[in-house]
Amino acid sequence: MPGFERNDFMNVSEALKKRRTIRKFSQQPLPKEAILDLVEYARLCAYPANLQPLKFAVIQDEELCDKVFPNTKWAGYLTDGSPKKDERPTAYIAVLGDKTIKDSFEVEAGAAVTSMMLGAFEKGIASCWIGALSREPIMDILSLDNERFSLLYVLALGYPAQESKACEFSGSIKYFEDENKKINVPKRPFDEILILEK
Ligand SMILES: Cc1cc2nc3c(=O)[nH]c(=O)nc-3n(C[C@H](O)[C@H](O)[C@H](O)COP(=O)(O)O)c2cc1C
Repeated sequence: MPGFERNDFMNVSEALKKRRTIRKFSQQPLPKEAILDLVEYARLCAYPANLQPLKFAVIQDEELCDKVFPNTKWAGYLTDGSPKKDERPTAYIAVLGDKTIKDSFEVEAGAAVTSMMLGAFEKGIASCWIGALSREPIMDILSLDNERFSLLYVLALGYPAQESKACEFSGSIKYFEDENKKINVPKRPFDEILILEK
């Protein structure tokens, strides 16, 4: 897939500009080490007061992936944006807040997931950050302690079988599929978001 080959020379700014959410994946399994690397990137993130309250659960087992999938929702703006059976993620990283450390985790999850998505992109691995989750069933499937951990997000992973690009905003923020099956993600113009430059 153009733009997704592993690129040892990809720099951070290129990754920041080119990374897009991908929701269709090839079924080629991901190397376990690559996924563990992503957790390592999350471990090293900036966290408020350096509290590091997040935990991570890596899911690659096919049977478990099959159980997690029905508890995820995809592409709210597309009529047919969910991955089909042979397009599903081949791995997930569940991001959990450890309530014995603190009790709110939004900022931390944002930092961690962003780092993991960019790290994945550099490795040629596509990702979709998923917040629309049935959390209780996922906690049960993974046999995780509900008292201690709060399921924040799941990062779905796999080699890409879809292309997506940023496009100009023309009145709607809704991403759409074009005639070439490419996802277009409208981004508000720079002039709109930069409100002060002195
Ligand atoms: C907190 C958060 C939750 C998200 N939840 C979902 C989700 O449940 N399902 C989904 O298909 N995409 C989800 N996304 C992906 C967004 O739709 C996507 O990031 C956005 O459309 C911009 O596209 P881009 O990532 O390609 O720039 C989520 C993104 C964020 C940041």
